[in-house]
Amino acid sequence: MVAAVARKRFLQQSPDVSAFEADVLEGLHETPKHVPAKYFYDAAGSQLFERITELPEYYPTRCEMKMLRDHAADIAKLIPQGAALVEFGSGSSKKARILLRAAPKLAAYVPVDICREMIEQEAAELRPDFPQLKVLPVTADICKPFDLPHEAKVAPARIGFFPGSTIGNFEPHEASAFLRNAANILGPGAALIIGVDLIKPAEVLNAAYNDAAGVTARFNLNLLTRINRELGGTFRLNTFEHHAFYNRERHRVEMHLASLKRQKVKVAGETIDFRIGETIHTENSYKYSVESLSALARGVGWLSAGAWIDERKYFSIQAFTFAG
Ligand code: TRP
Repeated sequence: MVAAVARKRFLQQSPDVSAFEADVLEGLHETPKHVPAKYFYDAAGSQLFERITELPEYYPTRCEMKMLRDHAADIAKLIPQGAALVEFGSGSSKKARILLRAAPKLAAYVPVDICREMIEQEAAELRPDFPQLKVLPVTADICKPFDLPHEAKVAPARIGFFPGSTIGNFEPHEASAFLRNAANILGPGAALIIGVDLIKPAEVLNAAYNDAAGVTARFNLNLLTRINRELGGTFRLNTFEHHAFYNRERHRVEMHLASLKRQKVKVAGETIDFRIGETIHTENSYKYSVESLSALARGVGWLSAGAWIDERKYFSIQAFTFAG
């Protein structure tokens, strides 16, 4: 406890200590242990994540892509002439391409992502395919206020796009804060198109986060590789195991890294004790209904403007507008 307080004071005084280090140490000193999920996405993590989206068990990406294709014309009706499409956490821009094709009247596309290499590369690949479109990537944490490029600010409207059920990776209060931040960034007259995974039987969800090929496990464990590399960690990967399960009471899939033995691990010079079976909670993936998400959005001023659901009722695309 005393050490934790001393460490916090030390971190506040040292501007060169990275946010990654501060967040990891803080999370590993808490009970239960946790690390913010945004740190999954280094170059290797982003690549592994792309592979997750192609797994047979992982239905959300395929399902959402098909829905975007099937309903592209309807969704594009929400996008006025000359508008800017702002994608939060864009990754590979694969889904945005569907909207960009369906809405040729868009003036600008602003992919926003924490992973700079990824969006710069995607932007370079998009430009030749959409020569009329201004592609203006922004490197930012989508949970914090950030500035839009000038062209997007002066566009007649800004349309937010937040696919992949990434909103489910926030705690509900963070999701609400995200929606408020998005409203502030996009401004009056904005629309927001969100892809959200739906509440469904546990078997389907458990399979989706425990693929047979073990890619999700590698994705989860890559967090320890990253800590070892960037923070001088001593995690031995074969002493930790991927655990993922649906928590019905809280409507969320939980991902953990469980220690297979009692052990001590060093991170940035500090010692972390693990009990046998103790876990680091690495991510939640909250599942919503159309009603539960629209209630959350309404709470911060977004009004429901449409919702699409597939035949199996696995996934939803929900649209909102913000009057200001
Ligand atoms: N947001 C998606 C989900 O929760 C994708 C995702 C984020 C994911 N992190 C993940 C999928 C980790 C599998 C494992 O489903």
